[in-house]
Amino acid sequence: MTRISLSVNGTHHEQEVEPRLLLVHYLRDVLGLTGTHVGCDTSQCGACAVLLDGDRSVKSCTMFAVMADGHDITTIEGLASDGQLHPLQEGFRQEHGLQCGFCTPGMIMAALGLLRENPHPTEQEIREGLEGNLCRCTGYHNIVKAVQYAAQKMSGHAAPPRVRERREPATAAANQGA
Ligand code: FES
Ligand code: FES
Repeated sequence: MTRISLSVNGTHHEQEVEPRLLLVHYLRDVLGLTGTHVGCDTSQCGACAVLLDGDRSVKSCTMFAVMADGHDITTIEGLASDGQLHPLQEGFRQEHGLQCGFCTPGMIMAALGLLRENPHPTEQEIREGLEGNLCRCTGYHNIVKAVQYAAQKMSGHAAPPRVRERREPATAAANQGA
């Protein structure tokens, strides 16, 4: 066993862990932070992404818990504060950036790492920045819009109002199938 000392979502933890324990299992099984998901065993899906030292997203299934010794980890549970959703969480809700939601914690943490590095990414940069995160449901388009929403809000500008599809009232001709 190895003693580690780290901060997770601002709370200090000191524990003895098996040297082979993965960070994702430490977060989920030892700390009970099950918002960080495990979606594969090949380091490809990104569902396990967390933030390391506040500015870099890492796949927590690719790190041992002992490698996080002395570091700050932020998980999805650490984003909302004072009852307010983080702009990225708000963006995913506003822009319908999720369906089943399984990939969402990892997407959000990876997007946060991206925005910390590049606060004003282009659409292409968002797509490239999230390349390591897979989503089976959304087709990614609304995820990109959610990150754009958050980027705008985090840079101090009001987030864009949602554009609603305008529905024309049904005409008599349409009702008759003409
Ligand atoms: Fe799939 Fe970590 S669980 S990349
Ligand atoms: Fe279902 Fe992304 S919302 S996997």
